[in-house]
Amino acid sequence: MKYFKIEGPVKLKGEVSAQGAKNAVLPIMSAIILYDTPVLLSNVPQVVDVFTMIELLKILGTKVEWKGKNDLLLDPSTINRYTAPYEIVNQMRASIYVLGPLLMKFGKAAVSFPGGCAFGPRPIDYHLHGLTLLGANLEIDRGYINASMKSPTPAEITLNFKSVGTTIHLMTTASLIEGETTLINCAQEPEVVATADFLIKSGVKIEGAGTNVIKVKGVRKLNNLTEYKIIPDRIEAGTYITAGFMTGGEVMVTGCSPIHLEPVIAKLKEAGASVERGNDYVLVKPRENKIKSLQIETQPFPGFPTDMQPQFMSMLSVAEGLSIIKEGIYPNRFAHAFELQRLGAKIKVIEPTAFIEGVEKLTGAEVAGQDLRGSAALILAGLVAEGITTVFGIEHLERGYENFQEKLQSLGAKIQSSS
Ligand code: EPU
Repeated sequence: MKYFKIEGPVKLKGEVSAQGAKNAVLPIMSAIILYDTPVLLSNVPQVVDVFTMIELLKILGTKVEWKGKNDLLLDPSTINRYTAPYEIVNQMRASIYVLGPLLMKFGKAAVSFPGGCAFGPRPIDYHLHGLTLLGANLEIDRGYINASMKSPTPAEITLNFKSVGTTIHLMTTASLIEGETTLINCAQEPEVVATADFLIKSGVKIEGAGTNVIKVKGVRKLNNLTEYKIIPDRIEAGTYITAGFMTGGEVMVTGCSPIHLEPVIAKLKEAGASVERGNDYVLVKPRENKIKSLQIETQPFPGFPTDMQPQFMSMLSVAEGLSIIKEGIYPNRFAHAFELQRLGAKIKVIEPTAFIEGVEKLTGAEVAGQDLRGSAALILAGLVAEGITTVFGIEHLERGYENFQEKLQSLGAKIQSSS
């Protein structure tokens, strides 16, 4: 099992640049299925979830080639299969994104049913219901969704919840359905806007991405789009800024979109951070006082992101006083809380809420990340803990963070990996 050994405490100091957004590139890569000609995506992060999506696209028949470290050429002209097998879908829930595009390309598709994940069941019922309203006929058989789409129909669809995945999936599918589809109660995340922008540049008329109502006027065929740049990853950037603040150091993240980080920056400021931001950078300055306690509720964008909740829990473990975190997205995304306790954090979880009583210091111990953001959070805790913290479960981290160890080392962290 891969692990990191971190020697703390350390004050981080320096500059890192943001990677491309994992949660924007995955749906955009899936949308490539709708094309006939090659597209070069730039600013693609080299993370395991991207590698998994590459594997899936290759199984479907896509030609894939890295043209540079972060430039990925996808040629969908050779796509000739419509089955997304268990061994891939099982590794990554975002594989479900290929269902709608495959339906639009072939009129049929078979996609393995994604399972649960480390933070509980994550159903796809909203996706499937929405696709049905767009004209899909779905049957679940032996773990697969066998789908067909004889007459794609534009529709008015009200989402039960502002689901990021459902919004993106339905918007992408509707792009090739002639007529106007209206999605109501949409997710407003920057990754939704990025996917819309990609489709708009390909000739689809999409209005309202970033608001709670999106109107899609589908086209018969997408225009050729030769190049597209992926937006910066707000969660990766937020992780480094939080690390800078909690260690009492000075960290600048360049090449990011501060506007996407606003909900995170606002909470950091409330905790006492002095933050400077420009058009494409965020700088957190050295902290003079203790971290102040916070009350946080994770919510769809522009609320506080669930994907920053674990990192904030690490930070609040060493804040002054009692902090309360309520999970508004995944009621049991708290595996990291029990690991933080091994470092001396005082946390009580009554789902969907965690109560964190700040302690004077954390002490190094062996801990294991159970999911992507939880692993990052434990590494952050290791930076402030006294002594050696060994964090197992690095394979989760690698799903979404590119060169995490190297970037932290460049900021002065003492961090070694097992291999
Ligand atoms: N939900 C359903 N049924 C559905 C879809 C969602 O019940 O059909 C529920 C989920 O279980 C959850 C809530 O609705 O309780 C919101 O889920 P959403 O659909 O918004 O999440 P997602 O699209 O599956 C994306 C990110 C997650 C991030 C969430 C919330 C990707 C690939 N994943 O997931 O990112 O936590 O939005 O912002 O975009 C991560 O990067 O670490 C990560 C988990």
